[in-house]
Amino acid sequence: MKQSDSKRHKTQYLRKVASFAFVGYVALNTLAYAADSSPALFNVNNELLQPKDYREWVYVGTPVTPNDMNDGKAIVPEFHNIYINPEGFAHWKKTGEFPDGTMVVKELLSVGAKKALTGNGYFMGEFTGLEAAVKDSKRFPDEPGNWAYFMFGMEYPLARKAAPKPTAECNSCHEANAKDDWVFTQYYPVLQAAKPKE
Ligand code: HEC
Repeated sequence: MKQSDSKRHKTQYLRKVASFAFVGYVALNTLAYAADSSPALFNVNNELLQPKDYREWVYVGTPVTPNDMNDGKAIVPEFHNIYINPEGFAHWKKTGEFPDGTMVVKELLSVGAKKALTGNGYFMGEFTGLEAAVKDSKRFPDEPGNWAYFMFGMEYPLARKAAPKPTAECNSCHEANAKDDWVFTQYYPVLQAAKPKE
């Protein structure tokens, strides 16, 4: 290889590195959190990225709608493990309200075994799906209560990002039936116990 050729290759290589770095920089800068302390991360298209580490948040309860008590097919099968981000929980514990940036995750699991050493019952099987709710008054000023709802799928592999669902599809039922600020605290004993007494 001639001297000038190798120089040209080097310049091309450096240009490539620089352009990759630039694309990476732009990508990072287009992601934004719902609030400073919130784990809810959005891209420029207002899609919520699949949350990470939510199994290490505060776990608040597990409603269960087994298929065999719902004509073989529950609307939301079957165990629903609910987690809230630690900052949202801390604020709730102090004030009885959910702050901007609160994120509640609903992780779905199938019923596995129906018998164990302790007796007959419903025991958790496989992870099957993931949904989330995010409160963000700046991003969702027009959603009732500023809550937006997301579905990452009811079977694996889950979607890596999700657009907000139309208000009528999710928000309306929560607005009409949930006990506190669009959240079904009536089914989450950990949130009930942590709520400050009036
Ligand atoms: C017919 C009423 C109804 C509709 C419609 C509905 N939900 Fe819910 N949702 C519930 C109930 C009841 C609970 C709590 C008990 C449970 O999990 O079964 C709940 C709980 C949740 C939770 C846990 C946090 C909370 O607010 O309690 C999330 C997240 C959630 N739903 C997401 C969704 C999404 C996403 C949609 C739309 C695709 C949706 N929901 C539509 C009734 C509804």
